[in-house]
Amino acid sequence: MDYLIHTENLSKFYDVGSVKYNALQGVDISVGYNELAAIVGPSGSGKSTLLHLIGGLDRPSSGIVRVEGNNLSELSEQDLADYRSKKVGFVFQFFNLIPYLSAQENLELSMSIARINKKERKTRALELLKVFGLESLAKKKPTELSGGEQQRTAIARALVNSPSLILADEPTGNLDTASSIVVMDAFRELIEKRKVSVIMVTHNHELMKYCDRIIKLRDGKLESMEIKK
Ligand SMILES: Nc1ncnc2c1ncn2[C@@H]1O[C@H](COP(=O)(O)OP(=O)(O)OP(=O)(O)O)[C@@H](O)[C@H]1O
Ligand SMILES: [Mg+2]
Repeated sequence: MDYLIHTENLSKFYDVGSVKYNALQGVDISVGYNELAAIVGPSGSGKSTLLHLIGGLDRPSSGIVRVEGNNLSELSEQDLADYRSKKVGFVFQFFNLIPYLSAQENLELSMSIARINKKERKTRALELLKVFGLESLAKKKPTELSGGEQQRTAIARALVNSPSLILADEPTGNLDTASSIVVMDAFRELIEKRKVSVIMVTHNHELMKYCDRIIKLRDGKLESMEIKK
């Protein structure tokens, strides 16, 4: 089988003073095309670290991340930047919305990084805000939005450049059940219509039922990988 994502013996150590933290230790996982995969595990088990390495936001200490067979470590800085801005949509655990920009401008900024023209930026931003029920909040800044609204803005932002891979760190963490289902349905629709894969961290057992693959981490190691389809 061809995989979109494949990691080989992936490890990440952090040096903090004289102490070395093993955030990930020899993790081998795969994620197929058009899949919704969940990464689960206790706090500190390495979920965000794994997501950041797959997204090319951070470099492994050792081991390999392959995307469509290509080793991310072998890409030039420019190719890696293009991968991050055009192929991947990130929903960060702490949203990372730009505080002095409105919801709409936050979406438009991600598109200007990918060199989309101004008119198209506005059209797409408003369309996506609408999908997540945020059209009336487009002019508000993150501090003027509730936690759930900020989260939905961050999810809308991840989709602006039509990525082929969405990496979402607890995308429904602050959302009520109804809003969580809107997000899961949006992911499913993207997977079916646009050939996207989604890898999301979640603690929610209800949402795991929507997933095709469950990657379980514990203490920086792969505990199990269950494939459901
Ligand atoms: N920048 C860093 N410097 C040092 N240690 C770090 C750093 N980032 C993460 N760690 C450590 O690596 C381990 C894994 O962290 P990670 O953020 O991947 O966990 P997580 O599974 O996402 O946890 P949570 O569910 O709480 O978000 C933790 O022990 C954490 O303390
Ligand atoms: Mg985390």
